[in-house]
Amino acid sequence: MTIPALSAELEGKRAVVTGGSRGIGAAIVQRFLDAGATVVTSARTPTEHTPSAAKFVRADVSTRDGVRALADAALETLGGVDILVNNAGDGRPFPSVLEIGDDAWQASLDINFLAAVRLNAALVPSMVAQGAGVIVNLSSMITNAPMGPLLHYAAAKSALETYGKGLANDLAPRGIRVVTVAPGNVASPGSDVVRREMTEHLGLEESAFDVAVPLGRVGQPADIAEAIGFLVSDRASWITGTRLMVDGGESPHL
Ligand SMILES: NC(=O)c1ccc[n+]([C@@H]2O[C@H](COP(=O)([O-])OP(=O)(O)OC[C@H]3O[C@@H](n4cnc5c(N)ncnc54)[C@H](OP(=O)(O)O)[C@@H]3O)[C@@H](O)[C@H]2O)c1
Repeated sequence: MTIPALSAELEGKRAVVTGGSRGIGAAIVQRFLDAGATVVTSARTPTEHTPSAAKFVRADVSTRDGVRALADAALETLGGVDILVNNAGDGRPFPSVLEIGDDAWQASLDINFLAAVRLNAALVPSMVAQGAGVIVNLSSMITNAPMGPLLHYAAAKSALETYGKGLANDLAPRGIRVVTVAPGNVASPGSDVVRREMTEHLGLEESAFDVAVPLGRVGQPADIAEAIGFLVSDRASWITGTRLMVDGGESPHL
């Protein structure tokens, strides 16, 4: 295999990344742009961290209409999709599992599980038509050790992992790879709030999250983006159906 320079590795590739307005998603978008891809990204609200070289589509992907709007805009802009990253996710902790109400369970399934299922259903046909494509679903380290305050989030991410494994088996003969990436504790606008609330609910020190990481620091969005940059490239052409932990060693038992 001839390996192209990193700056040209994704040249000619058309990518869709959900939740690219900030945090991990914005880093993934930037990593793909740096490697030469054309990128469509989405969120409900753009921020100053949203890479401006990507086409931004305002859409709430927790709804069927939002997914449809993003899929239509992506196909119209790109003509087809080579890389799809289901990154948008949301999980605010509750004081205890007993306080997670029915609406919160449904909302978590909508954004952390069904958004990916629906967007894949809309965009995979274009990958099947060209006989190639890569899908990356963003799960979480939390599925290794689900915690009560975030059980709605952990359970939805577990569903996403099971779905990703099955989808990979089904789509492999059609030339499409599907991988799950499970980040550990990564600094981002959303997760910084979550960690603060978790320390309150569980009575922990703020530093507890750094201490738990064998590599001695919480991750940065670029740590996740770099792993995904590899997984969507042809260097990873024999990798499918896998779940990659990117967590600084925090889950050494798996
Ligand atoms: N950071 C971590 O420690 C960590 C750990 C494990 C897993 N993860 C996973 O990694 C992914 C990215 O996390 P992050 O830390 O970067 O989160 P973040 O800072 O909260 O960013 C989340 C992104 O998703 C978008 N989003 C959320 N709800 C949406 C909706 N209903 N429709 C459209 N877009 C929506 C947000 O934009 P809008 O709010 O404007 O829509 C934003 O662009 C998530 O799937 C998360 O579960 C993160």
